[in-house]
Amino acid sequence: MPELLEVKDLKTQFFTRDGVVKAVDGVSFQLAAGETLGIVGESGCGKSVTALSLMRLIPQPPGKIVAGSIVFDGQDILKMDDDDVRAIRGNNIAMIFQDPMTSLNPVLTISRQIAEALELHLKMDRAEAKKRTIELLELVNIPSAKKRADDYPHQFSGGMRQRVMIAMALSCNPKLILADEPTTALDVTIQAQILDLLKNLAREFRTAFILITHDLGVVAGMTQRIHVMYGGQIVEKADTGELFANPKMPYTWGLLRSIPRLDEARKAKLLPIEGLPPDLIAPPPGCRFEPRCQYRHEICSQQVPELKHIPNSKPDHEARCFGTQEGGWLVNTDWRHDVGSLEQLEAIKAEIADLPLEAKRAEASGDTPPPPSV
Ligand SMILES: Nc1ncnc2c1ncn2[C@@H]1O[C@H](COP(=O)(O)OP(=O)(O)OP(=O)(O)O)[C@@H](O)[C@H]1O
Ligand code: SF4
Ligand SMILES: [Mg+2]
Repeated sequence: MPELLEVKDLKTQFFTRDGVVKAVDGVSFQLAAGETLGIVGESGCGKSVTALSLMRLIPQPPGKIVAGSIVFDGQDILKMDDDDVRAIRGNNIAMIFQDPMTSLNPVLTISRQIAEALELHLKMDRAEAKKRTIELLELVNIPSAKKRADDYPHQFSGGMRQRVMIAMALSCNPKLILADEPTTALDVTIQAQILDLLKNLAREFRTAFILITHDLGVVAGMTQRIHVMYGGQIVEKADTGELFANPKMPYTWGLLRSIPRLDEARKAKLLPIEGLPPDLIAPPPGCRFEPRCQYRHEICSQQVPELKHIPNSKPDHEARCFGTQEGGWLVNTDWRHDVGSLEQLEAIKAEIADLPLEAKRAEASGDTPPPPSV
């Protein structure tokens, strides 16, 4: 089956006063029609920049897609003129952001915003568009949709606004929905409802979707495949079940150890990943996770590990780690019981303790600029 989306060696950079931020550094992946993919990683690892690159929404300057190709439905988005990209954005790829208020227009009623898209992209007349708008609002479970359609965005709760965003995303029958942390701002119960809705509608409409999140727990029941990102690169790719049962990269082990598990809540202590994410202006020369990895060996700081197939795993399972690759020292490591070298762990803690306080604060605040308005 031809792929719906094929991203090859994508590189997106920001040219800042301090240097070139290599935000996305050689990312490749594919997605078939109707397939669901989770992209997971810590703050600042390049998830949103990947998504914005797919839509060609990188603010330029300071940003630029400097290499790679993004073939969507047979056409390279990076070679299209602006009008064609705009048409793709409206009709074929829809995006749902973390904060719906950045995408909703505060001075237009909810129904006008959805109807406008329907009139523009699907050439519906006003009455038709209004009718379809109500249907869409009912589909995303807005109570009393007919009455509430004429409200303004500020009259809706955060969860309802996110439902409206899903309705808008679905309105033009897109082939792909990109959801970037769609539920992070919502409380846990509402989060689960919205994710459920998104999953069911994507299945019903046979829409492919990419769910971006920093929380591995969120993608567990949502997607067929997961790609883990670290420092602007993909460091592990696997089927969702395989990734949870048989992860092959110490960074993924760290992510898994830091999510609460119901079955182990009383026994296992949550272990945060010590250390700081890499500086994307001057990333570590070898494995990007090396400064924080308690399993590291000498080779890890000298050579760059490739993303490749791992022994004792499914054929399409790949990871970027010398330790778990053929002949590596972690091939038989049971990550659930072996947390690596405690000496290394102490060394990592000591390295961060030496950093000036401001550096730690800036990193902890996840100083990431907001996405541009669409
Ligand atoms: N407009 C910009 N100018 C300079 N640097 C930028 C810009 N936008 C993003 N970056 C940098 O690119 C890198 C990747 O950022 P990105 O927003 O993709 O992270 P993320 O994985 O989405 O994180 P989060 O989970 O916090 O949303 C970060 O180092 C960020 O500071
Ligand atoms: S390559 Fe080395 S430093 Fe990187 S994750 Fe594997 S063991 Fe750790
Ligand atoms: Mg982001």
